[in-house]
Amino acid sequence: MSKSALAFVGLAVVLLVAGYWLTANNGGTDPADLDRLVRRETLRESQQELDRIDKRLSSTEIEQLAEEGRGQPVPANLVARPMPDTNSWFVGREKFKVGVEVPFQPGHLPNPAPDVEAVHQNPGFLGAESCRECHESIYQSFIETAHHRTSRPATLDNIAGALTPPDNTLLTHSEDVSFEMIQRDGKAFQRAKFFDWMFEVPFDITVGSNLLGESYLYWHGDKLYQLHASFLTEPDEWANSPGFVDGDAIFAREIHTACLECHATYADARQDDAHFTPSSLILGVSCERCHGPGKSHVDFHHANSDSSQPHDITVPSALTRQQQMQVCGQCHTGVRELLDPKGFQFRPGDTLEDHYAAQDSNETSANGVHTSNQLERLSQSECFKQSSMACVDCHDPHRNQRGQMATFSQRCLECHERSNCGMFERIGESIDSNCIDCHMPKRATENMSIETASGDVFPPLRDHKIRVDPLSTQSYLNELKQTAQGR
Ligand code: HEC
Ligand code: HEC
Ligand code: HEC
Ligand code: HEC
Ligand code: HEC
Ligand code: HEC
Ligand code: HEC
Repeated sequence: MSKSALAFVGLAVVLLVAGYWLTANNGGTDPADLDRLVRRETLRESQQELDRIDKRLSSTEIEQLAEEGRGQPVPANLVARPMPDTNSWFVGREKFKVGVEVPFQPGHLPNPAPDVEAVHQNPGFLGAESCRECHESIYQSFIETAHHRTSRPATLDNIAGALTPPDNTLLTHSEDVSFEMIQRDGKAFQRAKFFDWMFEVPFDITVGSNLLGESYLYWHGDKLYQLHASFLTEPDEWANSPGFVDGDAIFAREIHTACLECHATYADARQDDAHFTPSSLILGVSCERCHGPGKSHVDFHHANSDSSQPHDITVPSALTRQQQMQVCGQCHTGVRELLDPKGFQFRPGDTLEDHYAAQDSNETSANGVHTSNQLERLSQSECFKQSSMACVDCHDPHRNQRGQMATFSQRCLECHERSNCGMFERIGESIDSNCIDCHMPKRATENMSIETASGDVFPPLRDHKIRVDPLSTQSYLNELKQTAQGR
C-alpha cells in the first residue's frame, strides 16, 4: 500500500474512533476538539509510517550489505528489467518513464576494475610526474592548472561537494527520488534513493577542475560510467549531470575514448572505444599532449645527463601558427568523432583533419561546452585575422591564470593603446584592469544545460570572438556604477 493510502485508512479509523469516543463521553461533539484530536492522530500515524520507511531504508543495513559485497535487493513493488540494447537494467514502477538505469544487475554492486594487461602498447606517455626531476619549476606551477587537474582519482580531497550533512544531498522534483553523497572508510559513494530501494555506486575518478564543476566516473569491470550527480561550482551544490533528466537516477551512461582524449593524457582502449585497461590510465592533461610522448626524451636525458641539447621533444612555439593552434585544437574546437577509435594518436605538428572527423557547420560556429570552441571563435576576430596571434599570446600553458583579468588585459595592451578604446574617456586609467568583460563576454550556453528541481542552469563561458559588444558594455558599466555607489 502506498504512503498516502495508508495515511488515508489511518485517518478514517481515527475519525471513527474519535467520533465514538467523543459522543460516548460528552454526549455531544465539540468540532474544535475533534479537529485537534484528528490532527494529532494523523501526525502520529504519519510519524509511524515514516519510521517504518526509515527502517526499510536503514543506512546501517545497506552499509553492512556493501561491506559483505552485496547490494540491497530490489523491493517487490518495483519492476527491474534488462535493456539488452544498452547492456543495462531499468528499475522503475509499472508505466513509469523515469527510473533507474544501471549497468550492473540491480541488487548487486558494480564489479571492481580488473587487473588486466594492456591490449596496445603505450606510445610513450608517462605523465607529468616523470618530468619533475629535470623541470621542477615548470612542474610545480603546472600542477595548479586546469589541465593537470581536469581528471584525477576521486579521493576525498578531490571531491569539491559536501559528503556530510546538511549539504550532501541532491533532491529532485520527486520526493521519491534523491541522492546522498557519503563517505565510508576514506572512500566516497553516491547513494541513490528510489522509492523503497537504495543502492550505492563509488566515486572512482573526478573530471573537471571546478571552473564550472566536477563530474565523476566509476568502474564496472573494464568500463567507465558517469555518476548521476555532478557538482556545480557556481551555486556550490550537487546537481544532475549535464543532459540528465531531473527525477531519473542514471548510472549507465558509458564513457567513450573521446571523453578521456580531452580530459586525460592516455588510456588504452580495449576491444572498442568503451572498454579500457584500468592500469593504463594516465589522468590529467599532462605536458605530453602539447609536447608529444616523453618516454624517449626522458630515456635519452637519463642516459646522457650532461647533454643540454633537448632530444625528441616538441615545443609548439617552434611550429607554424596553424600547427600551434591545432595542438590546442585537439580539445578546444568542440566534440568530433575520432577517426581511430582507440584515440590518443594526434602529435604536435599533426593536422586535426588526419585524426578527427569534420564537424558539421552548426557545431563549428557554436559557442557551447564541449567545448566553447575557442579556436573557431577566436579565428573570427579581427585581432586574430589582422595579426599573428595564437592561444599562447594570452595563455601561459604552465600557469594557472584563472580570473586574472588585469594580466589578460596587459596582453591586449601589447597590441592596443588604451586610448584606442572608445570607453577610455569615460572609465579612465582603471580601464586597464579589465578589457575582458566588455570585449570577450561570458555567455551562458544552451549547449550545456543542467536540469535542476528549480529549473535549468546554463553555465557561462568566455566567448573568444573578440569584438565590440553593446550588451556586455552596458552590463559592465552598470556593475561599475553599483560598485561606486556601494562605496
Ligand atoms: C632526465 C632529465 C629530463 C627529464 C626527466 C625530462 N626532461 Fe625535458 N629536457 C631535459 C633537458 C636536459 C632539456 C634541454 C635543456 C632545457 O631546455 O632545459 C630538456 C628540454 C625540454 C623541453 C624544451 C625543448 C626545446 O626544444 O627547447 C621540453 C618541452 C621538455 N624538455 C619537455 C619535457 C617533458 C614533457 C618531460 C616529461 C615527460 C621532460 N621534459 C622530462 C631533460 C629532461
Ligand atoms: C588533451 C586535451 C587538451 C589540450 C591539448 C589542450 N587543452 Fe586546454 N583544456 C582542456 C580541458 C579538458 C580543459 C578543461 C579543464 C577543466 O577545467 O577541467 C582545458 C582548459 C583550458 C583553459 C582554462 C584554464 C582555466 O583556468 O580554467 C585554458 C586557458 C586552456 N585550456 C588553454 C589551452 C591552450 C592554450 C592549449 C594549447 C597550447 C590547450 N589548452 C591544449 C583540454 C586540453
Ligand atoms: C572535445 C574535447 C572534449 C570532450 C570530448 C569532452 N570534454 Fe569536457 N571539457 C572540455 C573542455 C575544453 C572543457 C572546458 C570548458 C570549455 O572550454 O568549453 C570541458 C569542461 C568539462 C567539465 C567542466 C570542467 C570544469 O572545470 O568546470 C566537465 C565536468 C567535463 N568537461 C566533463 C566531461 C565528460 C565527463 C566528458 C565525456 C563524457 C567530456 N567532458 C567530454 C573538452 C572536452
Ligand atoms: C597546454 C599545452 C602545454 C602543456 C600541458 C605543457 N606545455 Fe610546455 N609549452 C607549451 C607551449 C605552447 C610552449 C611554448 C611557450 C611559448 O611559446 O610561450 C611550451 C614550452 C615549454 C618549454 C620550453 C620553454 C620554457 O618555457 O622553458 C618547456 C621546457 C616545457 N614547455 C615543459 C613542459 C613541462 C615539463 C610540462 C608539464 C609539467 C609542460 N611543458 C606542459 C605547451 C604546453
Ligand atoms: C597580437 C595583437 C593583438 C592582441 C593581443 C589583441 N588584439 Fe585586438 N586587434 C588586433 C588587430 C591587429 C586588430 C585589427 C585592427 C584594429 O582594429 O586595431 C584588432 C582589433 C580589435 C578590436 C576591434 C574589433 C572589430 O571587430 O573591429 C577590438 C575591440 C579589440 N581588438 C580588442 C582587443 C582586446 C580586448 C584584446 C585582449 C583581450 C585584444 N584586442 C588583443 C590585435 C590584437
Ligand atoms: C586575446 C587573448 C586570448 C587569446 C588569444 C585566447 N584566449 Fe582563451 N581566454 C582569454 C581570457 C581573457 C579568458 C578568461 C579567463 C578567465 O576568466 O579566467 C580565456 C579563457 C579561456 C578558457 C577557459 C574557459 C572559459 O570560457 O572561461 C579556455 C579553455 C581558453 N581560454 C582557451 C583558449 C584557446 C584554446 C585559445 C586559442 C584558440 C585561446 N584561449 C586564445 C583570453 C584569450
Ligand atoms: C565598458 C566596456 C569596455 C571596456 C572595459 C573596454 N572596452 Fe574597448 N570598446 C568598448 C566599446 C563599447 C567600444 C566601441 C566604442 C566606440 O565605437 O566609440 C570599444 C572599442 C575598442 C577598440 C576599437 C574598436 C574599433 O572600433 O576599432 C579597441 C581596440 C578596444 N576597445 C580595446 C580595448 C582595450 C585594450 C581595453 C582594455 C584596456 C578595452 N577596450 C576596455 C567597450 C569597452
